[in-house]
Amino acid sequence: MITKLYKITDELCEESNLAGKEKLEADNQPSKELAAIGSSAGKEKLVGNILRCETTLQNGGAGLSCDDMLAEAGRIIRDGGLVAFPTETVYGLGGNALDETAAARIYAAKGRPSDNPLIAHIASMEELPRIVKYIPESAYKIAEKYWPGPITMIFEKSDIVPYGTTGGLDTVAVRMPSHPIAKALIKAAGVPVAAPSANVSGRPSPTKAAHVIEDLSGKIDAIIDGGQVDIGLESTIIDLTGEYPTILRPGYVSREMLEELVGRVDMDPALDGPPDNNIRPKAPGMMYRHYAPKGELTIVEGSNDNVVAYINGRLELLEDNEAETKVGIITTIENAPYFSKGKVVCVGTREDDDTVARQIYGALRQMDEYNVEVIYVESFREGPLGEAIMNRLNKAAGYRVVRV
Ligand code: TXA
Ligand code: MG
Repeated sequence: MITKLYKITDELCEESNLAGKEKLEADNQPSKELAAIGSSAGKEKLVGNILRCETTLQNGGAGLSCDDMLAEAGRIIRDGGLVAFPTETVYGLGGNALDETAAARIYAAKGRPSDNPLIAHIASMEELPRIVKYIPESAYKIAEKYWPGPITMIFEKSDIVPYGTTGGLDTVAVRMPSHPIAKALIKAAGVPVAAPSANVSGRPSPTKAAHVIEDLSGKIDAIIDGGQVDIGLESTIIDLTGEYPTILRPGYVSREMLEELVGRVDMDPALDGPPDNNIRPKAPGMMYRHYAPKGELTIVEGSNDNVVAYINGRLELLEDNEAETKVGIITTIENAPYFSKGKVVCVGTREDDDTVARQIYGALRQMDEYNVEVIYVESFREGPLGEAIMNRLNKAAGYRVVRV
């Protein structure tokens, strides 16, 4: 299968319906290359099974406009196909949420177990009552403050949502993303868009189009490249079907932020530790040891000095060439200068854990590329995103932590 790649740059979008109203944030800007991609474009180039189509739009030539691309991508989804697209959290793999066959294609492309339900993405509040049975008061409060944005709410599903989308559950997860491309695509599709993270099951979630290409090219119809995502970790998931709202997956919107709106908020007890046969997570996807790199990952927790000393101590135990090629270190600007061996990837600054969240999945993927056998990563418990970052890292590390 040939996968079409649409590249949406901000220059291109300036004159479209997409831009103007909501500019992408500075960090979130797609690359400034003067290239746009569309099927009817001037220069089409097949690279592997990716069809990159460079247009001469900027020179007044032929090619698809930003709106044309989104209309075409929307049509693919409406007709049962699959399109990967950027959201503010991670890239999603979109298909028609009301079409069981499309859902089956999503599972097949990702190699994901079909009992792991998908999130339905909507573009406006009017779409919600069609797909859920009942909207509790708390949902209105959360939606008013955080939608569109990085939070997913779980409701009882209505009859039009097929069990193929919900992994056989009577509930449905719903999110209204804020990324302008995601919003425009959902509108263009005209249906709720089921979208798990656009990675092969078990790999770290994709935070740029290159990651999606790596995992899914040749398996899906199209990819929209909108540059690096802003947040870098998947949305918070909150279940509203029980007595108290319950967080099933921590994310950018924290428990404290939610408690301010709706009072008591519980955490799914399964979030506390390693998989335990007696405590089943309520989000089926939280059961799997995913986000995992190929090398054995260990979290090293302690003061900066101790973390650096511990990791360097481990490196000392190895022959030079082994230390160089087999060990990976995921670190920060503060500590990076103190490592002289191993494959070092810097994910930002400890002063601002937004930077860490944005780059952590990319760093885990980079480690796969280096093909290292052992990986050390700093711990990021303290910052506002600490809970969300550590939830992902703990899973990736199989809860292997050393305290120094
Ligand atoms: O930020 C995000 O949420 C991204 C972007 C693309 O929107 N999507 C995402 O989807 O992370 P996915 O499929 O990778 O993760 C969805 C999680 C899974 O752990 C799944 O088990 C859980 O949500 N989930 C979905 N529907 C559920 C339901 N009805 N009840 C409980 N958990 C549910
Ligand atoms: Mg996922």
